[in-house]
Formats: sequence, C-alpha cells, structure tokens
Amino acid sequence: MWGMPELVKPSSHYKQSFIQAVREAQASGSGLGDTLKWDVAEMEADFNSVLAALRRYEPGNDLPDGFVHSESLWLVEGDEYLGRASLRHTLNKHLREFGGHIGYEVRPSARRQGYGTTMLRLTLERARELGLERVLITCDAVNLGSRRVIEGNGGVLEGQFVLEFHPKPLRRYWITL
Ligand SMILES: CC(C)(COP(=O)(O)OP(=O)(O)OC[C@H]1O[C@@H](n2cnc3c(N)ncnc32)[C@H](O)[C@@H]1OP(=O)(O)O)[C@@H](O)C(=O)NCCC(=O)NCCS
Repeated sequence: MWGMPELVKPSSHYKQSFIQAVREAQASGSGLGDTLKWDVAEMEADFNSVLAALRRYEPGNDLPDGFVHSESLWLVEGDEYLGRASLRHTLNKHLREFGGHIGYEVRPSARRQGYGTTMLRLTLERARELGLERVLITCDAVNLGSRRVIEGNGGVLEGQFVLEFHPKPLRRYWITL
C-alpha cells in the first residue's frame, strides 16, 4: 500500500530501492555528482558506510576545514526511495556563490511526476523548522526541470551568473521561509 511521499533520514529500510535508484542514475548519467560516482558493489556489501557518509556532516560531528553542517533527507513513498535532498544549515563563501542551501535529485524513473517539487517543499519545511529564514538555491540555467521546481516553490531569481570555475551559466534563487 502506498502512502504519501514523505521525507525521512537515510535508513537501511530503503537499501535495495536506493541502490536501484543509483543504478538508474548511473545508467542514464543523470544525477548529483556523488550519485554518479558511487560504487554499487561496495554499497551492496556495506550499506552502513553509505549511511555513515550521508550523516557525516550532521551537527555534533567535527567538520573538515571549509565544510558546514548539513543533513541528507530522502523522499520515500511506502517502501520506495524516490529522491534525496541535501540541506546545508549555513552558507560559506563557496556555497553563497555556488550550491546554496539545498541540492536535490529525483531518481530517473520517478521524474516529471511532481516529486521534485514536493521534495523541495518538504525540505523547505525542514529548513524552517531549523530556524532558517531565507534559503539560497542554485541551478544551471539550462536545467529547466530544476528551475521549475524552484520557481514552483516561490523562488525569487537573484540573477544569472557566469563563474570562472563552472562551465555553465548559473541561476541563484532565494526563498523566504
Ligand atoms: C531537476 C529534477 C530534480 C526535477 O525533478 P522532477 O521530479 O522531474 O520535477 P517535477 O516533476 O516536480 O517537475 C517540476 C516542473 O518542471 C518540469 N520539468 C521537469 N523536468 C523537466 C525537464 N527535463 N525539462 C523541462 N521541464 C521539466 C515539469 O514539467 C514541471 O512543470 P510544472 O511546474 O509546469 O508542472 C530532476 O530532473 C533531477 O533529479 N535531475 C538531475 C539532478 C538535478 O539536476 N538536480 C538539481 C540540481 S540544481
């Protein structure tokens, strides 16, 4: 029986569905950078390490230089993993320019069904709970799906920028919570 999509902390309950989603992303070459680099065989063998890596930057842990606290959130429905978001609790100089507070991906087989928009809406609720007042979200100007997801959640365009270290023009949006 399927429920409503909800945001959860990464958990071994979704192991098979999550790994299948990583396979999908790698087969299509479309997803967040780390998703495309994960070694699926290693994930199968040691999923606890995957979960630990996803929790690595949560508050309470020491941070390497240049990192901020952040948390990973998974969008799930019933037993199915649908996508993930990363919520940075603060910005640093780099994230203010590129990356912002929130990054996300929807597994390829679940795209264009409204899940990206729902996942960002739920992640914004979580950000509000954490006390954030305004969040920055960045996306490539050519990423029409991501633009629609942000705009559908009330994103206000700061502008479109060309960065020395990034090959594509980047859009920065702000959402007031
Ligand atoms: C971007 C992404 C998260 C969108 O997720 P999604 O679940 O397909 O989004 P939704 O179904 O909520 O779609 C939102 C809107 O965008 C539109 N849309 C989605 N993908 C699109 C695409 N590739 N081209 C044009 N429009 C698109 C939808 O039609 C919908 O339009 P509407 O608001 O008029 O109804 C997903 O494509 C993805 O994971 N891409 C790879 C990773 C990525 O780019 N992450 C964002 C980095 S900034």
